[in-house]
Amino acid sequence: MRSFPLPSGAQLPLFGIGTWRMGESSARRGRELDAVRHALDLGYPMVDTAEMYGEGVAEEIVGEALVDRSPRPFIVSKVYPHNATRRGTIAACERSLKRMGLDRIDLYLLHWRGGVGLAETFEAFHRLREAGKIANFGVSNFDLDDMAEAARLDGGLTASNQVLYCLSRRGPEFDLLPWMRARSMPLMAYSPLDQGRLLGKAVLGKLAADVGCTPAQLAIAWLLAQPGVVTIPKSATRERVKENLGALDVKLSPDVLAELDRVFPPPKRKQSLEIL
Ligand SMILES: NC(=O)c1ccc[n+]([C@@H]2O[C@H](COP(=O)([O-])OP(=O)(O)OC[C@H]3O[C@@H](n4cnc5c(N)ncnc54)[C@H](OP(=O)(O)O)[C@@H]3O)[C@@H](O)[C@H]2O)c1
Repeated sequence: MRSFPLPSGAQLPLFGIGTWRMGESSARRGRELDAVRHALDLGYPMVDTAEMYGEGVAEEIVGEALVDRSPRPFIVSKVYPHNATRRGTIAACERSLKRMGLDRIDLYLLHWRGGVGLAETFEAFHRLREAGKIANFGVSNFDLDDMAEAARLDGGLTASNQVLYCLSRRGPEFDLLPWMRARSMPLMAYSPLDQGRLLGKAVLGKLAADVGCTPAQLAIAWLLAQPGVVTIPKSATRERVKENLGALDVKLSPDVLAELDRVFPPPKRKQSLEIL
């Protein structure tokens, strides 16, 4: 599986499982844990989580799925903007580490921009890095102007930007993705299925049938065909976890890619970054 080098020298995997909406209901917890475990058993190399998801319970589920697992997958987590002060970031990271039973988070992101100055958050990220509690840091939901500010403050260490990017929301292709590619910075595409909304589109179903895959696999395979892009589909259903991984084996011909461009056209002008 392809991967992308990060400032620490570690590699960012191409693919992982997302965990938003996990940990929100005790009735669903067992099924969610089973899905994350299943993903890791199948070889998913990365898990994306955040202190926000289930207010910490998603991280606890990830921690439980990691028990006795070696080697462990690449772990991404995120700090809430309101916690992203000099001291608050460090305390939030320590809580996340404890919930997941880890010594180190591989990639720690500012979840979105809030009221705290970026210089303050980055100072905390640098300290966490020096202390070995995170290996890399990055941002999420940053449009180009925010990325330019980050680049002035980060000492060249911003490892990634996690943004909404999928077939039906191609805005980042206009300027953000080229800017990141020029710096060899991978883009983490969240909501690759547009939270399931993409899958109801008849045209995607028809194209997927022509390719010989499912609509979800087609949507994920299209993202994986974009240079410098990694993605993290979420599912709490065993069968779908396996189905989504199958996207790695789907090859898209130039004709299919052209048809997808026709149905889901790339942006012709700047679009403000969308956020879910
Ligand atoms: N940084 C940010 O601000 C941000 C924002 C959003 C998301 N994220 C991250 O990105 C991850 C993925 O995004 P997302 O969860 O928003 O949306 P998504 O991965 O596009 O879609 C998840 C939804 O699609 C369903 N689904 C998954 N695989 C399917 C399949 N093969 N067939 C049919 N339905 C399927 C899931 O249902 P079941 O679970 O019932 O299978 C769930 O309802 C998140 O979990 C989170 O880790 C980050």
